[in-house]
Formats: sequence, C-alpha cells, structure tokens
Amino acid sequence: MKEIPVILLGKGQVGQAFLNLLIEKRSLYQERYNLDFFLQGIFRSTGGAFWSKQRAREAFFYPDEQLESKTFWQSGLNFLDLPLEKLAPGVVVLATVSSLKTGEPGLAYLRHALAQGWHVVTADKGPLVAHFAELMTSARTSGLGLKYSACTAAALPALDVALTALAGTEIIRVEGILNGTTNYLLTRMESGLSYEEALREAQQKGIAEPDPTRDVAGWDTAVKILLLARSIFGLEMSLEDVQREGLTGISQEEVESIVQQGKALKLLGIIERQPNKFILEVKLTVLSSAHPLFYVRGAEKGICFTTDTMSQVTVIGGRSDPRGAAAAMLKDMINIFI
Ligand code: HSE
Repeated sequence: MKEIPVILLGKGQVGQAFLNLLIEKRSLYQERYNLDFFLQGIFRSTGGAFWSKQRAREAFFYPDEQLESKTFWQSGLNFLDLPLEKLAPGVVVLATVSSLKTGEPGLAYLRHALAQGWHVVTADKGPLVAHFAELMTSARTSGLGLKYSACTAAALPALDVALTALAGTEIIRVEGILNGTTNYLLTRMESGLSYEEALREAQQKGIAEPDPTRDVAGWDTAVKILLLARSIFGLEMSLEDVQREGLTGISQEEVESIVQQGKALKLLGIIERQPNKFILEVKLTVLSSAHPLFYVRGAEKGICFTTDTMSQVTVIGGRSDPRGAAAAMLKDMINIFI
C-alpha cells in the first residue's frame, strides 16, 4: 500500500467537500488503487493543524467539526512555516481562493509545496492565472505533479479529454459551457425566475463562487478558457487577451423571447484557431437545437472540440457543485500516483 500524506489548504465549501469525499472514498482507493490518502495537515488563514504520520493515519477527526475550537488547532500556524522537506512527501491540495492578478495567497503556498518536493492539486485558479509557465516548469523540472482539473471546469473532464483522448489530433476550435452558475441562471430564467432569484438559488446550492462577480461577469469562463488554451496549445496569452462578456444586463424577457424562437442563450468560452493566431473569447451566444451544447441545462457544463481527424467530440455533464470539484481533485490525486 502506498501511503500518501495530504495537506489541505482552505476549508470553504470545496475544502469541506474534499474532506468529506476523502473519508468516504478512503477504503475504496485502498482496495482499488492500493493508495492510502490520509490527512496530515489542514490550514486556513486563521491557523492550522498538523499531525505526525502515525497519528494522522489512525485518528481522523470529523470533517464538519469547527476546527478552531479543537485542542489540536494552532491559531496563527502558517503553512509556509511548515518544514515540509523533513516529511515524507505527499500532496498539497489547494482549496483557497486567490487573486487573479497576483495569484496570492495561493501562489506562495504552491511555490512552497513544489520547492519542498510535494505534488500539488489545486482548485485555486489565481496562482495559475498569474504564473502558469513558471509553476508548470517548476513542477516538471522537479518531477512533480501539478494538476488543476478543478480549475478547468472540474467534474467536466475538459482537460483530460483534450490532452489524452484527443492526443495527436489538431484541435481547430473549442466551445464550452464552462461555468455552471451562469448556465444555471440562464436555465432558471427560462423558467420565469428573475436574475436575482436565480442567483440567490445558485449561491445557496454552492454553485456560484464566493464572489459571484467572477461567474456572472464572465471572469470564471475567461479563466477556464485561458487555462485550457495555455495547456492545450501552449499559448502565452493572458487574461487581458480574452474578449469577455457576461450576463450583466440580461433580462428575463430577453431569455424568454429566445426560448419562444426554439433557441437557447448560452455563455460560451471559445478558442478559435486562425491561420496565424488564436482568438479567446467569452460570448453570449444564441444556440439552435442543432448545436451539441443546446441541451446543456442547469449547473451542467459541456465542451465541444472540433478536430481534424476525429471530427466533433462533445462531452456534457460534470455539474458544478462542491462535491464535483472535490471529486475532480481526487481524480487528479489518483492520476499522479497510479
Ligand atoms: N463557480 C463555478 C461554476 C465553479 O459556476 O462553474 C468554480 O469554477
């Protein structure tokens, strides 16, 4: 059995779902993959907890407990002060939320983990938006895994399909419904809800980002399309290069009138490959029922690749919610170690 310590940074909705799933699936992973993932540390901005390997493997606290009130909780303990190099290496899981401009605070955590020889799985997009090339090079040269499915539409296997299933093809165009929140809002507005009512629902279900501006203004889709473009095509484009629009200003009447024409309004992330350049955009698009993404409803997502040799390949599903994001992180962890 391969014993793999896990340190979790961040315990918001995604971090919490990750802990729940880690416990739920631990014995399955042992049986199926011969991998024993066990929680050795957990950190929030307020402090942290860290156990010896033996203690961590035996004693698992209940993940929904209030960490700060526990005797093991060390207020003010900072992940950056942890001498990771003295421990058997494992995987650091980032479920923090960082600035898309500076990448902090996640960037410092990610650099610290890689510098000390730990693999990283991140749901925090900030560090990747700010310093993608540096971080990928650092991981590669150190022979470490740096995986980020949770940043490229999470439970929808967008990146895996592009890099593995479509290997050897030329991908000519990518179109995706990559943000569950906006698709959820548009679907609920089709059923007569106002924009505000639909947004409240999405927040209650944990689909929307803590700051929903990232979703509704198209930033989240822009980030996902940027990370996909960088990963698939090796582009050095930045977030400013993504032409972007969001849902702001869309009325329920507009959505309803599109539905009455038998069409659907969708927020698409698009990569268009032109002879000498790539165009990245986030665009509100009216789709007819002939389009493969027409039927993507609610918090479901979908991505459609147009290729030279495998024609059009579409994947649909992977609803946005904390459990789906957590499952994507666990998938990345498994794929680092098997
Ligand atoms: N808020 C995002 C979504 C999930 O609605 O799809 C995190 O990227």
